[in-house]
Amino acid sequence: MELFFMALILLAIYLICALLSPFLTSERRCPRPKLPLPPGTLGWPYVGETFQLYSQDPNIFFASKVKRYGPIFKTHILGCPCVMVSSPEAAKFVLVTKSHLFKPTFPASKERMLGKQAIFFHQGPYHSKLRKLVLRAFMPDAVRSKVSDVESLAIDCLKSMEERSIDNTFLELKTYSFNVALLSIFGKDEMTYREDLKRCYYILEKGYNSMPINLPGTLFHKSMRARCELGQILAKILATRRRRKFQHDQHHDLLSSFMGDKESLSDEQIADNIIGVIFAARDTTASVLTWIIKYLAENPTVLQAVTEEQEAVIKSKGESGKQGMLTWEDTKNMPLTSRVIQETLRVASILSFTFREAVEDVEYGG
Ligand code: HEM
Repeated sequence: MELFFMALILLAIYLICALLSPFLTSERRCPRPKLPLPPGTLGWPYVGETFQLYSQDPNIFFASKVKRYGPIFKTHILGCPCVMVSSPEAAKFVLVTKSHLFKPTFPASKERMLGKQAIFFHQGPYHSKLRKLVLRAFMPDAVRSKVSDVESLAIDCLKSMEERSIDNTFLELKTYSFNVALLSIFGKDEMTYREDLKRCYYILEKGYNSMPINLPGTLFHKSMRARCELGQILAKILATRRRRKFQHDQHHDLLSSFMGDKESLSDEQIADNIIGVIFAARDTTASVLTWIIKYLAENPTVLQAVTEEQEAVIKSKGESGKQGMLTWEDTKNMPLTSRVIQETLRVASILSFTFREAVEDVEYGG
């Protein structure tokens, strides 16, 4: 039930200011009845209900609010007055039928940490261009050559989990997906910078859900310093790539896609989007993998069938004399494994909420 509930939870944040201020300004020109806001409370001044949401499992916050106010309620999170919607009908209204009334947005703290040039904060031609560049780096042609390197990272991760007694699978898989993200972004160059990038990124992400108060000692301040250092490391990586004058077709990674001559992205745009992609890829991938492990453990028959499919791939490689690392072609011989991944993506609630900002007055449900 909780899963079902979480799958439905779509947090659409649209600034109440966007709802209220147009009323106030347009009222002078053309008086309109002031529409009521949804039930709920805005909590304390400025901090709102941020601590209630982030100091516990967010499910508990949502569940208690829904129980008290129903599936649509107002609150105040990370310095932003907002409305949360959690019914499938309201989510469809915001994301599908009336999506033109909303634009993607994120709390101010996240925008400052990822960088304002990141794809998530844009619409129009710049957004389309970034989408194309990101997709290009994850097309089969670009991914094909990386299969064996991804396998190496997976083997390292499994070995490390086996050697130590692991009490948090998700955290281990976050490390794995971080390493795969770096490989996809920087190719083999990632080894040189992995530890520095990791150190800074891990500090940065701790502040993603912090209040945007940039004073010494605050989480936000520490994260912003790490963000600054990340920017410096990325500038160094860009300079090194340019110095080496690699041809674009020699690299099939996201960095070369962003650095293509025709794309004319600035260094700031490249850096913001690299950090943005790590942010988009890391927790999501680790979460899917964790759910897959959970579901397989709960379904021994499916686990057995997936194991047999994987063993058959190893066996067929041996028989055809192509022993060694996994290849792109091998991944085509895993239909059942693929279906398990697809089914997990369908059933599990990977991204349990997202944010939108109203671009004009919105009336929903009277
Ligand atoms: C399997 C795990 C993943 C899931 C479930 C997932 C889910 C999503 C969802 C639901 C959105 C839309 C959010 C919104 O509209 O508010 C999104 C956006 C995005 N994701 Fe993923 N994602 C996953 C993995 C990745 C990976 C590996 C990458 C790496 C490239 C990535 C890059 C992005 C980007 C760049 C966007 C923004 C797209 C845009 O603004 O047009 N995601 N993701």
